[in-house]
Amino acid sequence: MSKTKRINPRRPLVAGNWKMHRTASDTKVLIEDIVKRVDRVANIDLVVCPPFTSLAAAHETLGRHSILALGAQTMHSSKEGAFTGEISGPMLREFGVRYVILGHSERRQYDNETNEKVAAKAIAAISYHLRPIVCVGETLTQREAGETTAIIDTQIHTSLAGFPVDQIEELVVAYEPVWAIGTGKVATPTQANQVHRQIRKLLVKMFGDPGASIRIIYGGSVKPENAVDLMAEPDIDGALVGGASLDARAFFDIIEATRPARPNVND
Ligand code: 13P
Repeated sequence: MSKTKRINPRRPLVAGNWKMHRTASDTKVLIEDIVKRVDRVANIDLVVCPPFTSLAAAHETLGRHSILALGAQTMHSSKEGAFTGEISGPMLREFGVRYVILGHSERRQYDNETNEKVAAKAIAAISYHLRPIVCVGETLTQREAGETTAIIDTQIHTSLAGFPVDQIEELVVAYEPVWAIGTGKVATPTQANQVHRQIRKLLVKMFGDPGASIRIIYGGSVKPENAVDLMAEPDIDGALVGGASLDARAFFDIIEATRPARPNVND
């Protein structure tokens, strides 16, 4: 791929998915603790994704020009309507949200977030200037049955169907093997990188050369102790961190582990 076609330098990205943790007042405390630590961190994109009810507190605590960007954990694909309990892209934008996690395995499992719904949400997110973090990953049963490649293939093709190629630099893909989420069983760096490489090939097939520039981050029991080895892999561009992102020190250590391993290629 020629240099001029490279529209995204695959700058490392670390995102914290807080899931259903932290009230608004707890959010303020955690955000302040994280900001204090990451104040001088450069050459990396940092995102925190608190629950909806904490977004206002997070936004207010961060201020306008923070190094930490705000993300949401899901959204509806419509702008508004009779969808009880749902939140739309424009509603998120009002709180300074820049990223949105879509198709997380917990939402796929408990809330019927199908590949088709993820595709509609990803297209909607882009139209509201939100960067989608689209999650894919196989279960343990699927891995043991040798189905990982086929499952990832289907998830990528269907969840990103119709995604506008001219917005590809806004897209982030997260590989989160379901068996590694919240279990302490992390994928080995080689296992993870193999799937990341497969995903990159699929993205190039779908979107042409620009597909190679999409950031692919790893999630599933990322901790300070395993982050250095994972992030040193050539196709792993960052981390989507669950449990460890609720501890400012651990989150910071993961950020530090990611940054020197994958400096911005434009630097
Ligand atoms: P853990 O880091 O707690 O395993 O969670 C990973 C995850 O689901 C991030 O989205």
